[in-house]
Amino acid sequence: MTRDQSREAQLSAAFEERFHAPPAGIARAPGRVNLIGEHTDFNEGWVFPAAIERSVYLAASPLPDPVLELAALDLNEEITLPMPDPSKPAEEQARAYPAWARYGAGVAWVLARSGRAVQGLRGVFSSTVPIGSGLSSSAALEVAFATAFKALGGWEASRMELAQACQQAEHAFAGVKCGLMDQFASLHGKEGFALLFDCRTLEFETIPIPAQAALVIADTRVRHKLEDGGYNERREQCEQAVKILARTHPQVRALRDVTTAMLRIESASLPDLVRMRAEHVVGECERTLLMADALRRGDLPSAGELMYAGHASLRDLYQVSVPELDTMVAAAKSIPGCYGARLTGAGFGGCTIQLVEREKAEAFAEALATKYFDATGIPPEVLLSRPAEGAEWINGPGKKE
Ligand code: GLA
Repeated sequence: MTRDQSREAQLSAAFEERFHAPPAGIARAPGRVNLIGEHTDFNEGWVFPAAIERSVYLAASPLPDPVLELAALDLNEEITLPMPDPSKPAEEQARAYPAWARYGAGVAWVLARSGRAVQGLRGVFSSTVPIGSGLSSSAALEVAFATAFKALGGWEASRMELAQACQQAEHAFAGVKCGLMDQFASLHGKEGFALLFDCRTLEFETIPIPAQAALVIADTRVRHKLEDGGYNERREQCEQAVKILARTHPQVRALRDVTTAMLRIESASLPDLVRMRAEHVVGECERTLLMADALRRGDLPSAGELMYAGHASLRDLYQVSVPELDTMVAAAKSIPGCYGARLTGAGFGGCTIQLVEREKAEAFAEALATKYFDATGIPPEVLLSRPAEGAEWINGPGKKE
């Protein structure tokens, strides 16, 4: 089930207690898990995510003044600050907000700059997406705010436009030069389906997860912070590869346009690290399309092999794995019922995704937690999630926009 009505009731009550009136509504925005296609989105390639049954919930009402009055329930923190000024640059304004409030402020700034009516907002939020775990807690927060601003502002925007606004907010206010995958998935999720998304054309196809398979997500509990720079650095290396390859292959606009054969011929012209990053992205684009094909055919063993290969590439070529992620993947591989496993999201910590035989999924999850704990001393969080519905605005009890 995508919605969590007891969480919604709790949040409404918290809002009412604080502000002495019920909220105008609640925005729900899910996190996502990516089946395959990592660090391909900003290279205009393909990704294959699904929204998950964990969401950010934001109870919100409009304010007459241009003020953001926010309470982060999970952090026990609150702020009352002016809305950002759309006529001024992002950077110095972003610093006025605590890190968690930058996502909401950033979304307000981007939407206002694009001419939307964005009014002051009073909100209380809480998240069941674990923070910094590679399940897109930041994107979910951005999307929750965009959903609330849209509902309260009464204007129209497509889900793709909202996703793009949220991506820009992350660039401008959080300083992470992310691609579009996370915000896209949080807005376009569909219960029971993964989303094959072409990050160049912005077209997507929904592909069902076969009935005999389950998705198991395992949190290593090693936290990543993308602001630390490893992510943007990889992105720059990819851009450098494109620049060099475009000299001899002018049709190359992004790594999406590069083939394995081209890379082999040109490998001497690329610095080592740049070549490795490019090799990962080119291989990963291929694997993503192959995995979508495998799932369309219901060929779970082939899909699983592609996941293992994707993990090895992220570990060895793109170098964004950490020992705990490798331990989790190795543990998963050794347990009966596992088709495939890999790190999901940006890496540097966070979660792995496992494709598992449905009938064995519960036993698998338990065995995985035990093995990981035995190897690392860290108790992981292991969860089963069906692909969930994308973001929604819940306007008063039980009504959906
Ligand atoms: C983060 C970014 C995404 C994507 C992934 C890696 O989640 O926000 O845009 O690049 O990392 O695939």
